[in-house]
Amino acid sequence: MSDSDLKKEYSELKDQLNLWSRQYYYNDQPSVEDSVYDDNYRQLQILETQNPNLITSDSPTQHVGSQTLPGFDKVHHEIPMLSLGDVFSKQELAEFVNNLNKNYSQITEYNCELKIDGLAISLRYQNGKLVQGSTRGNGTIGEDITNNLKTIKSIPHKLTRPINIEVRGECYMPKESFAKLNEQRERDGENVFANPRNAAAGSLRQLDSKVTASRNLSTFMYNVANYDDLNTNTQSGLLSELKYLGFNINPTYEVVKNMYDINNYIDKYTGQRDNLSYGIDGIVIKENNLELQKEIGATVKVPKWAIAFKFPPEEVETKLKNIEWTVGRTGVVTPTAIMDPVQLAGTIVSKASLHNSDYLEEKAVRVGDTVKLHKAGDIIPEISEYIPSKRPKNLEPYIIPSKCPSCGDELVHLDGEVALRCINPKCPAQLTEQINHFASRNAMNIDGLGPKIVQQLFDKGFLDDTASLYKLNRDELETLDKFGSKSANNLLTAIDNSRSNSMERLLFGLGIRHVGAKAAKIISKHFKSIKSLASAKIDDISSINTIGNTISKSIVTYFKNPEANKLIQEFEELGINMEYKESQLNSSNIESSFFNKKTIVLTGKLSQMSRPKAVSWLENHGAKVTSSVSKNTDLLIAGKDAGSKMDKAQKLNLLIWDENKFIDEMNNN
Ligand code: IVH
Repeated sequence: MSDSDLKKEYSELKDQLNLWSRQYYYNDQPSVEDSVYDDNYRQLQILETQNPNLITSDSPTQHVGSQTLPGFDKVHHEIPMLSLGDVFSKQELAEFVNNLNKNYSQITEYNCELKIDGLAISLRYQNGKLVQGSTRGNGTIGEDITNNLKTIKSIPHKLTRPINIEVRGECYMPKESFAKLNEQRERDGENVFANPRNAAAGSLRQLDSKVTASRNLSTFMYNVANYDDLNTNTQSGLLSELKYLGFNINPTYEVVKNMYDINNYIDKYTGQRDNLSYGIDGIVIKENNLELQKEIGATVKVPKWAIAFKFPPEEVETKLKNIEWTVGRTGVVTPTAIMDPVQLAGTIVSKASLHNSDYLEEKAVRVGDTVKLHKAGDIIPEISEYIPSKRPKNLEPYIIPSKCPSCGDELVHLDGEVALRCINPKCPAQLTEQINHFASRNAMNIDGLGPKIVQQLFDKGFLDDTASLYKLNRDELETLDKFGSKSANNLLTAIDNSRSNSMERLLFGLGIRHVGAKAAKIISKHFKSIKSLASAKIDDISSINTIGNTISKSIVTYFKNPEANKLIQEFEELGINMEYKESQLNSSNIESSFFNKKTIVLTGKLSQMSRPKAVSWLENHGAKVTSSVSKNTDLLIAGKDAGSKMDKAQKLNLLIWDENKFIDEMNNN
C-alpha cells in the first residue's frame, strides 16, 4: 500500500471511530454494536503500532472518548479519570498478566471485579460531605452533575467519617429498570436506549434532577483518586473501606493469585451473568497492591496495572418469520419481530421488539431474512443485523403499513416522534388496551378481568370504555366462554370492590401520559382528590418535590380535555371513589416495597422517630425486625452511637444505612 493510501485508510478509520464515539458518548445513542466498534478500534491500534508516524493527537487511542454537554458546568479532574485497556480472549489476558508478572516480580495478587455496564462518575467529599459529583467527560474535563447524582439513593451525602476523599465508580441502571424505561419510551413514541450505559448517561445528563430521580439509577464505587487517610494498602481492602464509608460496592470481587484463579472467576461470572440484576460487559483484573499500582503507572489513557476482559458478544442466528404490529393504549403502533425460537443468554427467544418504523427502516430487515440476535443490556432481545449472504433471492422489501392494523385508519407521525400512531379515538385496540390498563394490578386491580375477557366483552359490544365496566350485568357476563354464574359473580364482586379504591389507583388507571403508579401515589397524597387535581395548575403540581414539569404538563393537558371531564363525572355518578385514602397499605403496596420480606435490625439511637414507630412502620411494609445481626440480616439501620451490631454487620459485609437514608427510603416506599 502506498504511503498516501495508508494515510487515507488511517484517517478514514480514525474519523469513523471518532464519529461512532461521539454518537455513543455525546448523543447517548450508539450507531453500531460495541463489538463492531471494538473490532475497528483494534484495526486502528494495529495500524498505529505498525506505523507510529501516522498517529495524530485526535486519534481515539490518544484520549478517553466522550465530550461534555452544554448546560452543565465543567469540572477539571485533577487526577484524570482513566479508561481501561481491554482484551478479548483468555490467551491475550494471560499475555498481559504474564508480562506484568515478569516486569514486577513483587506481584503476588490480583483483584478480580465485574465490569459494570454503566457510566464512570467521580464523587468529591470534604469533611465527609458530598460537595461535587461529575461525569468522566474526556477524562480531564467532565460535567458537574452534583444535583443529579444527589438523587441516587446509593450515593451517601455524608460519610461515616469526616474525611476528604474523591471516589470513583460506575453509575448504572438495573436491568429491570432499563427494560421498563425502554418499554415506556416505546409506548410514548420516543427513541429507546441501546444499552444500560446509554440509559444511565441519558438519565444523568438531565437539566431537571427530577427526571434523574425517576430513573432508578444505582452505583458501584471501585476506585479512589485522592484521600486523606485510608486504612488499607490493597484494592480489595479499599473496596471494603469504601463500603464502611457508606458507599455501595459490588460484593463479587475476589483476590486471586494466578491465571488459573482468574479464569475460574471469568467462568463463574460468565455463567452467572444472566442472573445478575445489572448488566456487565466483562471482568476487570487489577493488581491488588495500591503502592505497586502507583509504581506500574499508566499511559495517557489507561492504567498499566489493570485490564478489562471483554465478554464475546452473545449472538445467535435465527429466521425472521413475520413482523407483527400492535396498537398500544395511546395509539402508538409498535412492530415486533417474530422469529424461529432460539436459545440466547439463558432464555428461549422468539420475539424481539423492533421499536418503531425508523428503527425498522434502519435495520432494513425483510421477512424471510436470517438475522443475528443479541440481548441489549443482557436483557432485551434485539436484532443486531440481517445476514446479507443468507438473504434468499427475490426476497421482497418489507413495506411499513400505512393503516392501523386494528381500525384501518391512516397512521401518522406526530411532530418529533419516531413512532407511528393511530389517532382514531374509537380505535378498538386502543380502547381495549385502555381497559386492560385500567383493570391492571397497579391500577384498579380488578381480579379476573384479563385481556382475553376484555376482548370478548368488547367484541360482544358490552364494553366501550373504562366507565362501561361498572355497567356490566350478570347476563352479559354469563355469555362469555366458560363463564358460569360463579365466575360472573366473582367478576362482578371484583369490579364492585374496585369502586372504593383510593384515588392513586384511579389516577394511574386513567392512563395519563408519563403518570406511572409511583407518581400517581405521590400526587394523590398531595392533592387528596381527583377534583382538586383536575383544577390544579402546572406549578401547583410541579411544586411537589419529586414531580417534574413533564408529568405536571401532561396532567393539566389531560384535564383540559372535555372528554376527560365527562369520564370523571361518569365515574362519580357510578359511585367510584375519587378521594385519597390515608395510609391504607394494601398487599400490592407492600409487595412493591423495598422492605418487603427483608430481615432488618435496628441499632443505635434514632433521633427523628421513636424505635417502636420505626419497627411498626417496617413491619407494616412487610419487613421482619429482629434483634441480632447474622448473615441472614438483609439490612442494618444504624442510628447514633451504634456499637457491636454495627461492627458485626461490617464484618459480614451487610447493607448498612444511617437514619437519614432510612427516612429517605421511607418516603420512597
Ligand atoms: S477501573 C483507573 N473497575 O469501564 C481505574 N472500571 O472500559 C479505571 N468500569 O472507564 C477504571 N466496571 O467506567 C474499573 N470494576 C471496574 C469497572 C470499571 C466498569 C468502567 C469504567 C471504565 C470503563 C473502561
